[in-house]
Amino acid sequence: MNLIFLGPPGAGKGTQAKRLEGLHGIVQLSTGDMLRAEVQGGTEIGRKAKAVMDSGGLVSDEILIAMLAARVRRPDCARGFILDGFPRTTVQAAALDAMLAELGLRIDAVLSLQVDEAELTERIAGRFTCAKCGTGYHERFKQPKVAGTCDVCGSHDFIHRADDKRETVAARLEAYRRQTAPILPHYAAQGLVHAIDGMADIDTVSAAIDAALQPGTHEKLN
Ligand code: AP5
Ligand code: MG
Ligand code: ZN
Repeated sequence: MNLIFLGPPGAGKGTQAKRLEGLHGIVQLSTGDMLRAEVQGGTEIGRKAKAVMDSGGLVSDEILIAMLAARVRRPDCARGFILDGFPRTTVQAAALDAMLAELGLRIDAVLSLQVDEAELTERIAGRFTCAKCGTGYHERFKQPKVAGTCDVCGSHDFIHRADDKRETVAARLEAYRRQTAPILPHYAAQGLVHAIDGMADIDTVSAAIDAALQPGTHEKLN
């Protein structure tokens, strides 16, 4: 099963993709995480990407397409993958079609997470992750069970993303509206889009995604 998670920054793409990864044995491919790893590693791609990411804009299609083309060919993608943060432009969507055709693969569903803009800003401003294992938390919605200790690995180190400032969030939302939302009709025309109410709590959103992925579900957005 190959899925695309589409939605504005803070919609819950990463949260839900990580949950599905465990359930279905398919791998989460987050282009944001891949880029942050390049920045962390001080690579040439990382150096090019950092300023753009920090300003809330989109990194070049050329870099992203090459990065994803290499990633989907890795053996861990054989059982399927969840695209989290890709495609993000019409050029990337066209490149993805070509890539999949070449590999004899197709997209089974596009999950479009819908959340109000005011809520998105709240979610992003309160978000933090474990520095060691990457588990995501939120100051209001998802605190660690023991304050200051990661539920999963027990680490006491947490990090905030460099682009999670209120000012940058506005630019990221604008990039989503102008460059990413326009790819939805491409998938709607193929009957692949499932609109998911991303305003509900995390478990309810997961249940809605599960329901949408059941065979024979026809509740689609056009
Ligand atoms: P990326 O890392 O993809 O960031 P994003 O799209 O801005 O999305 P986020 O990761 O912020 O949000 P999310 O939807 O994953 O939400 P999350 O689950 O964390 O991209 C970063 C940057 O990299 C881009 O700006 C761009 O520069 C570059 N880039 C990446 N891909 C690119 C591409 N293809 N082309 C060009 N450039 C690219 O949830 C958010 C918070 O809310 C969490 O704290 C979570 O705990 C909480 N939460 C989640 N669900 C709920 C819920 N239902 N109720 C309450 N709280 C919730
Ligand atoms: Mg994410
Ligand atoms: Zn951890």
